[in-house]
Amino acid sequence: MLAADYRGPRRMRVSSKREPLIQHPRDAIVRVTRSCVCGSDLHLYNGLVPDTRIGMTFGHEFCGVVEEVGPEVTNLKPGDHVLVPFNIACGQCHFCKQGLFGNCHEANPQATAVGGIFGYSHTAGGYDGGQAEYVRVPYADVGPAHIPDWMDPDDAVMLTDVVPTGYQAAEMGGIQVGDTVVVFGAGPVGIMAARCAWLFGAGRVIVIDHLDYRLDFARRYCPAEVYNFLSIDDMAVFIKKQTDSLGADVCIDAVGGDASGSPLRTLLGKKLKIEAGSAIALHWAINSVKKGGVVSIVGVYGPTGNMVPMGNVLNKGITIRANQASVKRLLPRLIEHVRAGRIDPKALITHRVPLEELPDAYHMFSAKLDDCIKPVLYPNGGR
Ligand SMILES: NC(=O)c1ccc[n+]([C@@H]2O[C@H](COP(=O)([O-])OP(=O)(O)OC[C@H]3O[C@@H](n4cnc5c(N)ncnc54)[C@H](O)[C@@H]3O)[C@@H](O)[C@H]2O)c1
Ligand SMILES: [Zn+2]
Ligand SMILES: [Zn+2]
Repeated sequence: MLAADYRGPRRMRVSSKREPLIQHPRDAIVRVTRSCVCGSDLHLYNGLVPDTRIGMTFGHEFCGVVEEVGPEVTNLKPGDHVLVPFNIACGQCHFCKQGLFGNCHEANPQATAVGGIFGYSHTAGGYDGGQAEYVRVPYADVGPAHIPDWMDPDDAVMLTDVVPTGYQAAEMGGIQVGDTVVVFGAGPVGIMAARCAWLFGAGRVIVIDHLDYRLDFARRYCPAEVYNFLSIDDMAVFIKKQTDSLGADVCIDAVGGDASGSPLRTLLGKKLKIEAGSAIALHWAINSVKKGGVVSIVGVYGPTGNMVPMGNVLNKGITIRANQASVKRLLPRLIEHVRAGRIDPKALITHRVPLEELPDAYHMFSAKLDDCIKPVLYPNGGR
């Protein structure tokens, strides 16, 4: 089969690989019809994630058709159309029982923190991902959800990560009716977080980025007030001036370790790798939120640590909430939001690309070319 093939930082190929086999009674094999490239893939692509091995198949956002199931998978059968959450979760451990499917204790033998994630290095379990014609889905009795007949598969694939992550970012913000919410990052995740902030009762939503085409999209789609950080001297002062001089009620970091905007943080975090990526968006979030406010982090950072202004967190009495999204926990209500038209996920898809053109898709998405917001690959011709 054809599959993504990581050859080292910023070198992706599509190679012929052996088709995956059922290895455990709870496995399924899925024939992939749609598979996204995500901002999280860019951390891998840029060589920021430890233990990313040459030859790995990336891809944690995919949907498709069940090809084969192991003997213990009774909820799926060949021919079923399924969307597969990016988290690999056993459904039975201490954490899965609490709905913390992103922190499963069984799916990732390496981890004390993150659970298993498809195609996301050996720090997330070493599972091959879905930027391929076929993928092995472990614990297939837990994660995959049937795609309703009425749902467009382009919407379904966005429910594997982008929509739940944006939604959880807003949820973790504990937004109260009328709150001012500032979202850092106008990538697919930040756009969806800003859109979902309204569902929780936000009174005002502000989005910050430096890419005007994404800000324009956010202005219309979320909808949101948008600002380009390149024209802002001091973020905390700016946000205070925009609000009631006290700061935002909730700040969301939807950027993570690939952030730009601070040459110092870029040097320490991305070039010298003394920090786990550049945490400048997180600095801005902490410094722009009002006293007693909430900072919600879904932008991804590596395990080694970042220098963040902890004194400000303490002295302002800020609540910080962060996690990988628990996709399975959120799916029932998100499917309902899509059905009711409150979220239009596929509107974010700007590029539909054959699997064979995956290296170009990575380059375009990484370099933010051609007004790209979300590229989706179509293995097997999308059928
Ligand atoms: N927690 C989770 O479960 C989860 C799931 C999916 C993605 N993520 C993470 O969310 C983040 C965003 O993902 P994405 O797909 O939207 O990525 P993306 O790369 O498309 O978007 C990131 C955006 O942030 C902007 N940006 C860069 N520096 C900034 C700064 N200092 N302030 C404001 N904006 C800045 C970029 O211009 C870009 O538009 C990534 O870190 C990704 O790993 C987390
Ligand atoms: Zn993703
Ligand atoms: Zn578990």
